[in-house]
Amino acid sequence: MQLLEVHDLLEELFLAHQTALLDRNLPAALSCLDQFAELLAAHIADEEKVVLPAYAARVAIPEGGKPEFFHFEHTKLQSSIGEVRAMLLTLVPAGHTLENGSMLAPVDPQHVDVRGLLELLDQEASFKDLLRHHDARERRFLYPLLEAALNEIEQQQILVQVQLRSND
Ligand SMILES: [Fe+2]
Ligand SMILES: [Fe+2]
Repeated sequence: MQLLEVHDLLEELFLAHQTALLDRNLPAALSCLDQFAELLAAHIADEEKVVLPAYAARVAIPEGGKPEFFHFEHTKLQSSIGEVRAMLLTLVPAGHTLENGSMLAPVDPQHVDVRGLLELLDQEASFKDLLRHHDARERRFLYPLLEAALNEIEQQQILVQVQLRSND
């Protein structure tokens, strides 16, 4: 289903964020992370409000594909990304800011604490594990089973509902 394409986009944004981190470019890293978090939140809301209700109503749910697993993972992903963001902010040296405009004059990479940066990357590795796990569960259960349970018109209706939500 088309909605899975968002997963690839999310992966690209996170890669851009981590690339900026490796450059120790904190404003760019924060900006990519915020874009990522915004898209993740919108995608989760689409799944919670449109996809999962249809899945729960129409699919004979297998053991590993219970709706509560998806709900739980969504909550965990969002709290984990909040922790990552908070950790990133602690890397900003005193006297600097990551507000708008700082992208043009980023903190000198030499002033970014390497230990803190490595701790952040460790934290992000756990986040990525969580995300990978969630992606695998949705690719294995949520989307293929929903697709098999709905006819083409019903699948289109799901996409339209998601579209309407994002235009709200
Ligand atoms: Fe998803
Ligand atoms: Fe999801």
